[in-house]
Amino acid sequence: MKTIQTIAIIGASGNMGAAISKSLAKGNYRLLLCANDLNKVQAVADEIIKTNPAASAEAVDCSVDASWEADIIISAVPYAAEKEVAEKIREVANQKIVISIANPLNETYDGLVIAPDTSAAEELQKLLPNAKVIKAFNTTFAADFATPVIDGKQAGAFIAGNDPEALETVSELVSTAGFNPIVAGKLAVSGTLERMQLLLIQLNMKYDYNWLAGWKILHQ
Ligand SMILES: NC(=O)c1ccc[n+]([C@@H]2O[C@H](COP(=O)([O-])OP(=O)(O)OC[C@H]3O[C@@H](n4cnc5c(N)ncnc54)[C@H](OP(=O)(O)O)[C@@H]3O)[C@@H](O)[C@H]2O)c1
Repeated sequence: MKTIQTIAIIGASGNMGAAISKSLAKGNYRLLLCANDLNKVQAVADEIIKTNPAASAEAVDCSVDASWEADIIISAVPYAAEKEVAEKIREVANQKIVISIANPLNETYDGLVIAPDTSAAEELQKLLPNAKVIKAFNTTFAADFATPVIDGKQAGAFIAGNDPEALETVSELVSTAGFNPIVAGKLAVSGTLERMQLLLIQLNMKYDYNWLAGWKILHQ
């Protein structure tokens, strides 16, 4: 029988963290939810258990404890908070999968706050040199998790990373969340994924574009 994996979601009270937590609660995972405010993550955990009493979701007030217990850590915090989070979890994240979902957008959503030759995921890997950082979910939107299906087909979600086993594990997790996992390449591809998302955000602001439909065009 497969061992139940423990997943720490740091930023679980946010738009993406809560959406990811609710989606993964449908799978056979133990979820540890954390953020700055324990009351907010407790509300997300309560909602998950109310909807799905068989789910395993606990609010935990310390990202270090949650990450220590976890097999997989999801960093669902704004890019600006990732350095602080990484410094806290560095020792306990050794050899673990750490999922980077961040898009390092500037305040006006018309550019990135990051140098052109890097990405949020690669910066996180530098901060956590002994972890297996995988890019995922940066091209999906919090609102998409409720219905990740277009015309009866699962919407695609891009993944990038250097460790083949970790890519396989994250692909399963993305499937559990309801998306079709598409391995885009090594971690260095993350910069392209983050810039692709910047373009879609700009198109959405300009033309009221549909995000999921945008990605559908890409993998038709
Ligand atoms: N929104 C989207 O549709 C979307 C799509 C793709 C990717 N992303 C990426 O997902 C990430 C989160 O975005 P979001 O829209 O979900 O943001 P959000 O709604 O503002 O949520 C941020 C979460 O991070 C927590 N947090 C902030 N600083 C923290 C710290 N130092 N330590 C621990 N937790 C901290 C917050 O907790 P408290 O409230 O307790 O402070 C909250 O739970 C960003 O990197 C963003 O680029 C977002």
